[in-house]
Amino acid sequence: MAGTAKRKSSRSKISPQSEGDVRAFWDQQAKEHGPSDLATNPDPHYRALEIESILRVISAIKHETILDVGCGNGYTTRAIAKKFPESEVTGVDFSENMINEATRLVTPNTDFCVADILSLSRNEILRGRKYDVVLSTRCLINLANWEEQKIGILEMRKMLVPDGRMILVENVQEGLDNLNDLRAKFGLEKIEPPWHNKYLPNDGIRAFIEEIKGNLLSMEYVENIGNLYYLLSRVLYAKLCKDQGIEPDYNNPINAIASQVPTMGEYYACSPNYMFVLKNEIGMSAQWDTKKLSS
Ligand SMILES: C[S@@+](CC[C@H](N)C(=O)[O-])C[C@H]1O[C@@H](n2cnc3c(N)ncnc32)[C@H](O)[C@@H]1O
Repeated sequence: MAGTAKRKSSRSKISPQSEGDVRAFWDQQAKEHGPSDLATNPDPHYRALEIESILRVISAIKHETILDVGCGNGYTTRAIAKKFPESEVTGVDFSENMINEATRLVTPNTDFCVADILSLSRNEILRGRKYDVVLSTRCLINLANWEEQKIGILEMRKMLVPDGRMILVENVQEGLDNLNDLRAKFGLEKIEPPWHNKYLPNDGIRAFIEEIKGNLLSMEYVENIGNLYYLLSRVLYAKLCKDQGIEPDYNNPINAIASQVPTMGEYYACSPNYMFVLKNEIGMSAQWDTKKLSS
């Protein structure tokens, strides 16, 4: 998550990214924050917008079985399971501490296990399971580079039923660059991704899906989640704070109001957060009403 906050966070650690360091970071976040939403995202207003977008898209596609990859402490997984009580929802994460937190609050239609996104299809517990929806919410950005991120996407695809959908909710570098261009106009410093994140390349993901289109996956829908929220909270409110010499606070009422402004297409994609809905091309047997995705 990009942004600035009052809240003390271990995200400021400067370290070369290695899988061990990243896992240790998330283990520590789970210890520090338990089941709270703050374990995996410091901005509650963005989080609410993100969950709203995910639930809207899931309700428009077949969703009897859902796999949430990199589910953290299960905060979003539980919101999905509550909204769709008839669905079976599985959450997986490579951090044992996160999965321990998630399993403390299981609901009748959720289950959780430890698994690495890079070897999902070889995981003992998941072996033989297939899902209508395979979701990642800010998980791919924890992988070391775009090559690994592509492997993660292909591993997620292997977990889909033939006509299933993959939902990627991830930070994209170009969205952050657009936001920083706007911030620069107001004399605000650049927001940098935290040390453990590598934001996805926008052109890269589109080119990759184009390359595998017709064989593996195709792009069905794209949303720049909360672009007006980012404009108002990370530019306008950030500028007010700078002028007053105070640190921005995620919980400021301005942010609460800003989060009620709807996402505005891709008119100006100044949110670093994108949602990509990808269709499994193998054995397409059902057509879902994709018009409902953005309604
Ligand atoms: C930003 S948090 C998001 C958690 C959750 N999706 C949410 O929205 O609250 C990223 C999560 O990805 C997990 N993660 C990072 N790399 C992973 C990997 N290689 N395999 C599985 N999970 C991973 C982390 O442990 C962490 O819980």
